[in-house]
Amino acid sequence: MEQTQAPARKQRILSGIQPSGTPTLGNYIGAMRNWKLLEDEYDCLYMIADLHAITVRQEPAKLRAQSIQLLALLLAIGLAPEKNVLFFQSHVRQHAEMGWLLNCFTYMGEMSRMTQFKDKSAKHADNINCGLFTYPVLMAGDILLYQANLVPVGQDQTQHLEICRDIANRVNGLYPGVFTVPQGYYPKVGARVMSLQDPTRKMSKSDPDDCFIGILDTPDAVRRKVRRAVTDSDAQIRFDPENKPGVSNLLSILSALTGEDVHAIAESMSGKGYGDLKNAVAEACVETLTPIQDRFNQYMSDKAYLESVYRTGAERAGKMAERTLSKLMKKIGFIAR
Ligand code: TRP
Repeated sequence: MEQTQAPARKQRILSGIQPSGTPTLGNYIGAMRNWKLLEDEYDCLYMIADLHAITVRQEPAKLRAQSIQLLALLLAIGLAPEKNVLFFQSHVRQHAEMGWLLNCFTYMGEMSRMTQFKDKSAKHADNINCGLFTYPVLMAGDILLYQANLVPVGQDQTQHLEICRDIANRVNGLYPGVFTVPQGYYPKVGARVMSLQDPTRKMSKSDPDDCFIGILDTPDAVRRKVRRAVTDSDAQIRFDPENKPGVSNLLSILSALTGEDVHAIAESMSGKGYGDLKNAVAEACVETLTPIQDRFNQYMSDKAYLESVYRTGAERAGKMAERTLSKLMKKIGFIAR
């Protein structure tokens, strides 16, 4: 029999990543490499959140360089631009406009309870700007503009996603059906990679250089950083995050990169020294990162191609975003443009 029914629309996924510094091995293992696995099953958009980046002071040349590098990196990890909409947030004007509209549906009290705002304003006490305060509203707009169903985010963003859902429900209460209320998407496998120098904290690109492995670090840098990673003094290879956070972190990095079970790795290495473990970790990192870096360099040497990717991405994203923005503006009572 002939199929007459149109196929159901795929669920839509949107995520954003800030162009502040190069992503780390932790970003790669915990988030970015999973994105590639979603591209057939879902309708995916990945946005380089450059508007969010300026909530802290940026050096123009550096912001520009990091933004284009991040695009090249998204391609280098294998995201196909035909299947994933890749774009710069600032290229789709609807983000700034939606941000304003949603500011008028968000309360000061809600924003002041955001833990990231408290942390960041302590860290940048000389520049507690309104953008930093209202950052989650801009992020809510990013998500709601595309009627995203699912948002892959790390632990540090769950509060922002919650507020996005609150705003969506509030606006829908006033103007029914404007927004899809999104949910968090948490991949089944996703090891949390910890700092090499303080393995009780998450690996972060804003920490000193020897705490993290950057996706673009040279093999020498990777080996040096892993060799200096904090372990402990009992010289036993065992997976025990509570009592042996450093060693356990190295084991889970190795497990994430090789696909082998973390306990099986620990077992097979028992009796060996920490130096052996570190060598294995460093070589697994280099093996994973080298092909990504090779592709990254190829993309970076083809500026015309990168430009065609981000132009097409912004065009596709802009059309989707405009549909939602104009729907909301009409409901609010603005004269149609
Ligand atoms: N705030 C996110 C971060 O710093 C980045 C981001 C901006 C984002 N807009 C988004 C993530 C929309 C998910 C969805 O990690």
